[in-house]
Formats: sequence, structure tokens, C-alpha cells
Amino acid sequence: MKKILITGAFGQLGASLQLNNYNIIRTNIILQDDQEHFKVLDITNEEQVNALLEKEKPDVIIHLAAMTNVDGCERNPNQAQLINVLGTENLLNHFTGKFIFVSSDYVFDGEDGPYTEDDDVNPINVYGKTKLEGEASVRKLSNDWVILRTNIVWNIGGNFKASFADWVVDELQSNRHIRIVTDQWNNPAWTVDLGNIIETLIQHDANGLYHHGSSRIINRYDFACMIANVYELNSSLIEPITTKELNQSAQRPLKCGLITKKLENDFNFTPSKTISDIKAAKYQTEL
Ligand SMILES: NC(=O)c1ccc[n+]([C@@H]2O[C@H](COP(=O)([O-])OP(=O)(O)OC[C@H]3O[C@@H](n4cnc5c(N)ncnc54)[C@H](OP(=O)(O)O)[C@@H]3O)[C@@H](O)[C@H]2O)c1
Repeated sequence: MKKILITGAFGQLGASLQLNNYNIIRTNIILQDDQEHFKVLDITNEEQVNALLEKEKPDVIIHLAAMTNVDGCERNPNQAQLINVLGTENLLNHFTGKFIFVSSDYVFDGEDGPYTEDDDVNPINVYGKTKLEGEASVRKLSNDWVILRTNIVWNIGGNFKASFADWVVDELQSNRHIRIVTDQWNNPAWTVDLGNIIETLIQHDANGLYHHGSSRIINRYDFACMIANVYELNSSLIEPITTKELNQSAQRPLKCGLITKKLENDFNFTPSKTISDIKAAKYQTEL
């Protein structure tokens, strides 16, 4: 049975990864009290990385650990570099098996998305730059890799810091007014769909660069309204605004999103509909 080591396994994507029929080693920088059967792994600690990889000898690494707070990366670029680039290199320097790196549409400038794998990259914020540098390290240091770019990864019910959708539900459930931009466009990826495609890539022993996302490019305001409607929350609490008005620390690529034709052609991937994903997520949390 293949042994798969997951970094950042208690983030929103890691927590959704099911991966049946594999021997899974879940690792994270900090473990909670009820997680003593998982492993501590701070990817910025090269000695710890070396010792764990030497001991466990995984066949595959799914590398999810990252500094994902886009404005946080802008305010603290050294930390972003340390985690997103050097952390990735620490793993690659001590590993020769299949390396799966989850990257982002923020490697593009958002001038004319959505993008294919062949389009030119040009990140406009620290997060995007460090994810792109991480990609370059993967290409340089591994002979057996997949770079899977995805966008607006979301999950509902896990209360993860990185989940926009969770935040929308929490705010509206508390009857709080929220301001959401109408000019940032992507095709959001539900963690469950993303987990399924990662499993497919492992099963097919895939190699190379792939783009993942849902079937339709929507703006962030419409996405939030869709969530409000499915969850029967008050969408009039959502105020449409522009990115300029939001005045975030990091510049955002506006017309982004990822074209998934290569995944469709190579693996029969069918991009999911965001509305159906939200309904399925709601159904899951009600079970
Ligand atoms: N979220 C998105 O919209 C999005 C879009 C495209 C691509 N991605 C990529 O998808 C991957 C998974 O994202 P996600 O949404 O699941 O993010 P997440 O919830 O922020 O998960 C990342 C995990 O990495 C952990 N981590 C941070 N520093 C670490 C270190 N030094 N050593 C080990 N673990 C560390 C974090 O722990 P703490 O929480 O304790 O910091 C967190 O549990 C990331 O590589 C991200 O760049 C995400």
C-alpha cells in the first residue's frame, strides 16, 4: 500500500482529504490534544523534515502547508518566503518520490484571466510570488512532480481561517453586515472536489502542471450571495463594493480563474457547478 505524507494536514484542504486505500501520515506544525496519533512537522525546520522523511519513507508527499493569508504575506514577506519557498525546498531536498504541490491562480496578474497552463505568469503580490517560487523549486529539485494550481479553496463547517465561504456563513448567521467585492473573478474550488482530483492524480501517477477549478467564473459578491441563498441567510446584509474601496494590504489579481481543459482531457475530469457544491456542503454539515 502506497504511503502518503500530507503537510499542513489540518488546514481546510488537508482536513477534507479522505484518500482511502493508502497509508496516510498526516502532519501539521502544531497538533491539538486529540491528535496525538498524527505527526508534528514544521516544514521550516530542516532537521525535523529530514528526520521524519528518513523515518517514514513516504512514496508520495502532498504538500499543502503554506502561509495562505494573502495580506499577512504582504505585511510579512520574510515569513512568507520562509514557509512557502524554503519550507517547500526543505521537503524537496530530502525526498525523491512523487511530490504534489498545490499552487494558486495568484501566480497570474489577473489582467485577462481565466488562464490555461500555457499562459504567462506574473504575480502581483507576495503570496503569488512565493507560490510561484515554490513552483520553480519543485521543477528544479524534483524529477517526479505535479503542480496543481487551484483557486478560492472553500469549505463550510470547519471554521478554517482560509475559508471565505465559512466566513460568509458565520457573519450572516450572526446578522453582521459584510462588504464583498464585485470585481474579483475566479472559479472557486470546493475542498471535496479538489480532494477527489488529487486522489485521481495519485492513482494515475500523473506528472506536470494542471489547473483546477469549478465550471463557471463568478465574482466574489455573486459567490457570497449564492452561499447566502443556499444557506437561507439574509443576502441583503451583503454590500457590493469594489476592490479599490476595500483597500487591502496586498494587491489582488482581478480577472483570474483557471481553465481546466487539460485535467478534463487527461483524466476525464468534469468541473463541478459551484451551486451544486454549496448544496452538497450544506447537506454534509446537516448529516
Ligand atoms: N485557500 C485558498 O483559497 C487557496 C487557493 C489556491 C491554492 N491554495 C493552496 O492550497 C494549499 C492548502 O490551502 P488551505 O486553504 O488548506 O490553507 P490553510 O487552511 O491555511 O492550510 C495551510 C496549513 O499549513 C499550516 N502551516 C503553516 N506554516 C506551516 C509550517 N511551517 N509547517 C507546517 N505547516 C504549516 C497551517 O497551520 P496554521 O493554520 O497553524 O498556520 C495550516 O494548517 C496551500 O498550499 C495553499 O497555498 C489555497
